[in-house]
Amino acid sequence: MLAIIGGSGMNQLSCLEISHQQNIKTPYGEPSGPLTFGKMNNQDIVFLARHGHGHSIPPHAINYRANLWALHAQKPTHVIAVAAVGGIRADLTPGRMVIPNQLIDYTYGRAFTYFDDASHPVTHIDFTHPYSQMTREMLLNAVRNANATIIDGGVYAAVQGPRLETAAEINRLERDGADIVGMTGMPETALARELGLNYATIGVVVNAAAGRGTNINAVSLEEIHVVLDKAMVDVRNVLKHMVVDYGD
Ligand code: HPA
Repeated sequence: MLAIIGGSGMNQLSCLEISHQQNIKTPYGEPSGPLTFGKMNNQDIVFLARHGHGHSIPPHAINYRANLWALHAQKPTHVIAVAAVGGIRADLTPGRMVIPNQLIDYTYGRAFTYFDDASHPVTHIDFTHPYSQMTREMLLNAVRNANATIIDGGVYAAVQGPRLETAAEINRLERDGADIVGMTGMPETALARELGLNYATIGVVVNAAAGRGTNINAVSLEEIHVVLDKAMVDVRNVLKHMVVDYGD
Protein backbone atom coordinates (compact mmCIF):
# COMPACT_ATOMS: atom_id res chain seq x y z
CA MET A 1 0.00 0.00 0.00
CA LEU A 2 1.17 3.45 -0.93
CA ALA A 3 0.26 6.46 1.22
CA ILE A 4 -0.30 9.90 -0.28
CA ILE A 5 -0.67 13.08 1.76
CA GLY A 6 -2.42 15.72 -0.32
CA GLY A 7 -1.64 19.35 0.34
CA SER A 8 -3.20 22.62 -0.82
CA GLY A 9 -4.91 22.01 -4.15
CA MET A 10 -5.16 18.29 -3.51
CA ASN A 11 -7.91 17.80 -0.97
CA GLN A 12 -8.97 14.72 -2.83
CA LEU A 13 -7.32 12.44 -5.31
CA SER A 14 -9.61 12.53 -8.31
CA CYS A 15 -7.91 9.61 -10.05
CA LEU A 16 -8.54 7.29 -7.10
CA GLU A 17 -11.24 4.59 -7.31
CA ILE A 18 -12.43 4.89 -3.74
CA SER A 19 -13.40 1.73 -1.84
CA HIS A 20 -14.05 3.20 1.58
CA GLN A 21 -13.14 5.83 4.13
CA GLN A 22 -12.15 5.28 7.72
CA ASN A 23 -11.92 7.54 10.74
CA ILE A 24 -8.90 6.58 12.82
CA LYS A 25 -8.33 7.45 16.46
CA THR A 26 -4.75 7.76 17.58
CA PRO A 27 -3.08 8.31 20.96
CA TYR A 28 -2.38 11.83 19.65
CA GLY A 29 -5.94 12.71 18.77
CA GLU A 30 -7.68 12.89 15.43
CA PRO A 31 -6.03 13.16 12.02
CA SER A 32 -7.03 15.96 9.65
CA GLY A 33 -9.84 13.77 8.30
CA PRO A 34 -10.77 10.22 7.44
CA LEU A 35 -8.31 8.06 5.54
CA THR A 36 -9.54 7.32 2.02
CA PHE A 37 -8.73 3.86 0.68
CA GLY A 38 -8.87 2.85 -2.93
CA LYS A 39 -7.00 1.83 -6.04
CA MET A 40 -5.11 3.74 -8.64
CA ASN A 41 -3.98 1.60 -11.57
CA ASN A 42 -4.59 -1.50 -9.48
CA GLN A 43 -2.31 -0.35 -6.69
CA ASP A 44 -3.67 -0.01 -3.15
CA ILE A 45 -3.60 3.58 -2.00
CA VAL A 46 -4.39 5.32 1.26
CA PHE A 47 -4.93 9.05 0.95
CA LEU A 48 -5.12 11.79 3.56
CA ALA A 49 -5.92 15.46 2.95
CA ARG A 50 -3.44 17.32 5.17
CA HIS A 51 -5.61 20.41 5.58
CA GLY A 52 -8.83 18.48 6.14
CA HIS A 53 -12.06 18.59 4.25
CA GLY A 54 -12.46 21.83 2.33
CA HIS A 55 -8.97 22.97 3.33
CA SER A 56 -10.08 24.08 6.80
CA ILE A 57 -6.97 23.47 8.94
CA PRO A 58 -4.11 25.99 8.71
CA PRO A 59 -0.51 24.66 8.60
CA HIS A 60 0.36 25.44 12.24
CA ALA A 61 -2.82 23.77 13.54
CA ILE A 62 -2.48 20.46 11.67
CA ASN A 63 -2.21 17.44 13.96
CA TYR A 64 0.88 16.06 12.25
CA ARG A 65 1.42 13.40 14.88
CA ALA A 66 -2.08 11.97 14.46
CA ASN A 67 -1.80 12.14 10.66
CA LEU A 68 1.47 10.21 10.46
CA TRP A 69 0.40 7.78 13.17
CA ALA A 70 -2.80 6.93 11.30
CA LEU A 71 -0.94 6.40 8.03
CA HIS A 72 1.79 4.35 9.72
CA ALA A 73 -0.88 2.03 11.10
CA GLN A 74 -1.75 1.09 7.49
CA LYS A 75 1.83 -0.16 7.00
CA PRO A 76 2.51 1.76 3.79
CA THR A 77 5.61 0.87 1.77
CA HIS A 78 6.12 4.56 0.95
CA VAL A 79 4.59 7.88 1.93
CA ILE A 80 4.45 10.59 -0.74
CA ALA A 81 3.73 14.09 0.53
CA VAL A 82 2.48 16.69 -1.92
CA ALA A 83 3.17 20.26 -0.84
CA ALA A 84 2.64 23.68 -2.41
CA VAL A 85 5.74 25.84 -2.03
CA GLY A 86 7.11 29.26 -2.91
CA GLY A 87 10.13 29.38 -5.21
CA ILE A 88 13.22 31.14 -3.87
CA ARG A 89 15.80 30.05 -6.44
CA ALA A 90 15.37 31.97 -9.70
CA ASP A 91 14.79 28.89 -11.86
CA LEU A 92 12.08 27.56 -9.55
CA THR A 93 9.23 29.39 -11.21
CA PRO A 94 5.50 28.78 -10.71
CA GLY A 95 4.42 25.42 -12.11
CA ARG A 96 7.77 23.70 -11.51
CA MET A 97 7.98 20.56 -9.41
CA VAL A 98 10.85 19.78 -7.04
CA ILE A 99 11.78 16.69 -5.08
CA PRO A 100 13.73 18.21 -2.19
CA ASN A 101 16.65 16.33 -0.67
CA GLN A 102 17.27 18.60 2.32
CA LEU A 103 15.35 20.85 4.67
CA ILE A 104 15.78 23.55 7.27
CA ASP A 105 13.22 23.89 10.04
CA TYR A 106 12.08 27.39 11.07
CA THR A 107 8.78 26.31 12.63
CA TYR A 108 7.98 26.69 16.33
CA GLY A 109 5.31 25.76 18.83
CA ARG A 110 4.19 22.63 16.98
CA ALA A 111 3.96 19.13 18.45
CA PHE A 112 7.06 17.87 16.69
CA THR A 113 8.05 14.52 18.20
CA TYR A 114 6.66 11.22 19.45
CA PHE A 115 9.55 10.93 21.89
CA ASP A 116 8.58 13.54 24.43
CA ASP A 117 7.32 11.67 27.46
CA ALA A 118 8.61 9.28 30.06
CA SER A 119 7.12 6.25 28.29
CA HIS A 120 9.90 6.38 25.70
CA PRO A 121 13.62 6.13 26.30
CA VAL A 122 15.35 9.34 25.13
CA THR A 123 15.63 8.87 21.37
CA HIS A 124 17.58 10.90 18.83
CA ILE A 125 16.71 9.90 15.29
CA ASP A 126 19.28 10.35 12.55
CA PHE A 127 18.06 13.12 10.23
CA THR A 128 21.19 13.80 8.18
CA HIS A 129 19.25 13.04 5.01
CA PRO A 130 15.68 13.88 5.97
CA TYR A 131 13.97 12.28 2.96
CA SER A 132 14.06 8.60 2.01
CA GLN A 133 16.41 8.23 -0.94
CA MET A 134 14.56 5.05 -1.96
CA THR A 135 11.27 6.92 -2.11
CA ARG A 136 12.85 9.86 -3.92
CA GLU A 137 14.22 7.49 -6.55
CA MET A 138 10.86 5.83 -6.98
CA LEU A 139 9.35 9.25 -7.57
CA LEU A 140 12.10 10.21 -10.03
CA ASN A 141 11.43 7.01 -11.98
CA ALA A 142 7.75 7.85 -12.13
CA VAL A 143 8.61 11.32 -13.38
CA ARG A 144 10.70 9.81 -16.21
CA ASN A 145 7.90 7.43 -17.17
CA ALA A 146 5.36 10.23 -17.09
CA ASN A 147 7.56 12.30 -19.38
CA ALA A 148 7.32 15.05 -16.82
CA THR A 149 9.97 17.52 -15.76
CA ILE A 150 11.00 17.81 -12.15
CA ILE A 151 13.96 19.25 -10.32
CA ASP A 152 15.91 16.56 -8.51
CA GLY A 153 17.05 18.02 -5.20
CA GLY A 154 16.65 21.26 -3.35
CA VAL A 155 16.53 22.63 0.16
CA TYR A 156 13.05 23.07 1.63
CA ALA A 157 12.66 25.81 4.23
CA ALA A 158 9.78 24.95 6.58
CA VAL A 159 8.27 28.15 7.98
CA GLN A 160 5.55 28.72 10.53
CA GLY A 161 2.94 30.65 8.56
CA PRO A 162 0.11 31.16 8.13
CA ARG A 163 1.31 34.52 6.87
CA LEU A 164 3.66 34.66 3.93
CA GLU A 165 7.22 35.92 4.42
CA THR A 166 8.75 39.37 4.22
CA ALA A 167 11.19 40.00 1.38
CA ALA A 168 14.00 40.19 3.97
CA GLU A 169 13.02 36.83 5.40
CA ILE A 170 13.21 35.29 1.94
CA ASN A 171 16.67 36.85 1.50
CA ARG A 172 17.72 35.26 4.75
CA LEU A 173 16.34 31.87 3.74
CA GLU A 174 18.29 32.15 0.50
CA ARG A 175 21.49 32.99 2.38
CA ASP A 176 20.82 29.93 4.53
CA GLY A 177 20.77 27.85 1.35
CA ALA A 178 17.03 27.32 0.92
CA ASP A 179 15.56 26.86 -2.57
CA ILE A 180 11.86 26.54 -1.75
CA VAL A 181 9.69 27.61 1.16
CA GLY A 182 6.57 25.99 2.57
CA MET A 183 4.58 25.75 5.79
CA THR A 184 3.93 22.02 6.26
CA GLY A 185 7.24 20.19 5.73
CA MET A 186 7.98 20.16 9.45
CA PRO A 187 7.34 18.41 11.70
CA GLU A 188 5.79 16.07 9.12
CA THR A 189 9.12 14.91 7.68
CA ALA A 190 10.74 14.31 11.08
CA LEU A 191 7.72 12.45 12.44
CA ALA A 192 7.79 10.18 9.38
CA ARG A 193 11.42 9.37 10.19
CA GLU A 194 10.61 8.76 13.86
CA LEU A 195 8.09 6.15 12.71
CA GLY A 196 10.55 4.63 10.23
CA LEU A 197 8.44 5.52 7.20
CA ASN A 198 9.89 5.83 3.69
CA TYR A 199 8.84 9.41 3.08
CA ALA A 200 9.52 11.91 0.28
CA THR A 201 7.95 15.15 -0.87
CA ILE A 202 6.89 16.56 -4.21
CA GLY A 203 7.07 20.33 -3.87
CA VAL A 204 4.93 22.20 -6.35
CA VAL A 205 6.04 25.78 -6.87
CA VAL A 206 2.87 27.87 -6.88
CA ASN A 207 4.40 31.35 -6.57
CA ALA A 208 7.66 33.21 -6.62
CA ALA A 209 8.56 33.81 -2.96
CA ALA A 210 7.99 37.27 -1.46
CA GLY A 211 10.09 39.95 -3.14
CA ARG A 212 11.06 37.62 -6.00
CA GLY A 213 10.09 37.33 -9.65
CA THR A 214 6.74 38.91 -10.37
CA ASN A 215 6.15 39.28 -6.65
CA ILE A 216 8.47 42.21 -6.00
CA ASN A 217 5.70 44.13 -4.26
CA ALA A 218 3.21 41.50 -3.20
CA VAL A 219 2.43 37.82 -3.58
CA SER A 220 -0.66 37.35 -5.71
CA LEU A 221 -2.98 34.86 -4.06
CA GLU A 222 -5.17 34.66 -7.17
CA GLU A 223 -2.14 33.59 -9.16
CA ILE A 224 -1.37 30.92 -6.59
CA HIS A 225 -4.79 29.34 -7.07
CA VAL A 226 -4.52 29.34 -10.85
CA VAL A 227 -1.06 27.74 -10.80
CA LEU A 228 -2.10 25.27 -8.13
CA ASP A 229 -4.97 23.87 -10.17
CA LYS A 230 -2.81 23.50 -13.26
CA ALA A 231 0.18 22.01 -11.44
CA MET A 232 -1.90 19.38 -9.66
CA VAL A 233 -2.65 17.85 -13.06
CA ASP A 234 1.10 17.23 -13.45
CA VAL A 235 1.40 15.89 -9.92
CA ARG A 236 -1.44 13.42 -10.47
CA ASN A 237 0.20 12.29 -13.69
CA VAL A 238 3.43 11.54 -11.81
CA LEU A 239 1.57 9.74 -9.02
CA LYS A 240 -0.24 7.55 -11.54
CA HIS A 241 3.04 6.50 -13.13
CA MET A 242 4.55 5.71 -9.80
CA VAL A 243 1.76 3.32 -9.18
CA VAL A 244 2.14 1.66 -12.59
CA ASP A 245 5.86 1.06 -12.07
CA TYR A 246 5.62 -0.44 -8.64
CA GLY A 247 2.13 -1.82 -8.70
CA ASP A 248 2.86 -5.33 -9.89
N1 HPA B 1 5.81 30.85 1.44
C1 HPA B 1 5.49 29.89 2.35
N2 HPA B 1 4.69 28.88 2.08
C2 HPA B 1 4.19 28.79 0.84
C3 HPA B 1 4.48 29.74 -0.15
C4 HPA B 1 5.34 30.83 0.17
O1 HPA B 1 5.63 31.71 -0.66
N3 HPA B 1 3.80 29.37 -1.27
C5 HPA B 1 3.15 28.22 -0.95
N4 HPA B 1 3.37 27.87 0.32
